[in-house]
Amino acid sequence: MTRFESVAEAIGGTPLIRLTKTGLRPRIYVKPEWYNPGGSVKDRAALSMLRAAEADGLLRPGGTVVETTSGNTGIGLALYAAHLGYRSVIFTSSSISKEKRDLLVAHGAELRLVDAFVPKSHPDSLKSVAERFVASTPGAWLANQYDNPANPAAHVASTGPEIWADTEGAVTHFVATVGTGGTISGTGRYLKGISGGRVRVIGADPATSSYSGGDGSQKFIEGAGHFVHPLADEDVWPQSLDLSVIDAYESVTDAEAIATIRDVARSEGLLAGGSSGVALTAAFRLAATLTEEDTVVVLLPDSGRAYLSTYYNDDWLLANGFRAESGAVVGDLAAPLRAVGRTRTGASAARELASVIAGDEPVAVLYGRPLPNAAPHHADIAGWTTAARLAEADTAGAAAVATGVRLGAGEPVAAAAARAASLDPDWQVALVLDQGRVSGLVTRARLNAHRVATSGATAAILAPKVATH
Ligand SMILES: Cc1ncc(COP(=O)(O)O)c(C=O)c1O
Repeated sequence: MTRFESVAEAIGGTPLIRLTKTGLRPRIYVKPEWYNPGGSVKDRAALSMLRAAEADGLLRPGGTVVETTSGNTGIGLALYAAHLGYRSVIFTSSSISKEKRDLLVAHGAELRLVDAFVPKSHPDSLKSVAERFVASTPGAWLANQYDNPANPAAHVASTGPEIWADTEGAVTHFVATVGTGGTISGTGRYLKGISGGRVRVIGADPATSSYSGGDGSQKFIEGAGHFVHPLADEDVWPQSLDLSVIDAYESVTDAEAIATIRDVARSEGLLAGGSSGVALTAAFRLAATLTEEDTVVVLLPDSGRAYLSTYYNDDWLLANGFRAESGAVVGDLAAPLRAVGRTRTGASAARELASVIAGDEPVAVLYGRPLPNAAPHHADIAGWTTAARLAEADTAGAAAVATGVRLGAGEPVAAAAARAASLDPDWQVALVLDQGRVSGLVTRARLNAHRVATSGATAAILAPKVATH
């Protein structure tokens, strides 16, 4: 057992654990970063950025540590800020998992939820709000993991050397997700340097992430990949990301990542988080092309414990279209997705739709750019409208009715109708999710008509039975 004189010393030194059930030829080792005190790989970057800020005189005793984060960096910063005696203020969105929010508060962070869905440059964005806070708070320092060189430097100093030492130089492939790029850039740079360029570095990327050529639309997996706001003028990549170390990308859907971690939890006994599912899926695909001579190391950023209410929860899977029940389900009643852009002229959109659908059929109004390659994420949809409403409006945006109701394509009809009513008693149109993407729209009238028809049928079957008593 190793002894540490403080929590800061306990960062890093995470093990390599060999997977034994994959049936694939290469040796595959995972590096579970949840062994860090704050439960994720971001402990390394958090302490590194804090120490660099202290050394540069940007953070002084009594100072305030500030960050915008999807969770793990905030947890690391809050933990080490507490340890080093700083106040911490974390700006984040309520879409991060509840467990992560509770962890931030448990470590003493002041949590500021910013939910404006606007591009980074907008004055109400997470970034702008945090920057204003720092400008108006004496002694405040913004960690800015996306552009802070101390983030990748943490991995040059620790993650890379650990992998090299623990594989005794046998590592041939390193697979990691790319969020800020700190992990893959620092670790990859070290492994390429020490191996004379022999180690291949593979970026495991969500299918919609713009790093690997996706459309930049949202996804469910937190931490990995790069999202581009639909109204953003440009796609700015972090300075923490060093593209020159990434040899290839493997693109992985939410559904694949979720299926992989659920499988690995049962087969290997390792409970990994969502971005670990992206990395593992990519690694398995890669390993299928390799030989017994190869040693693949896969970095797992955090544990599945933070996602028990999502990826490991059957109801969540059903509600988001990652699981289907048998019998009559919502997807059977949904109209396939038709969408118009928010800025489209109402009259011209109405004319176009009139030739294909009825005037009262619901149509989605897209928030921003059209998505050529994939069904949209629900964050891409501003609301619903109809050809009849469009005909009366200047633009599709003006004719849009917002809906907060989303149903899984595989949800049984009666249960889905009840759930929708509990989400919004006045709901009229719901987005239908299949594999986490919006595949269609369904109206309340349609769900109810089906329920009445089927409950009528049940009554008809039961009636004679009742009569015999
Ligand atoms: C769960 C999770 N996975 C992956 C990453 C990506 O790591 P990096 O920012 O070093 O690229 C993060 C980063 O925040 C994360 O929180």
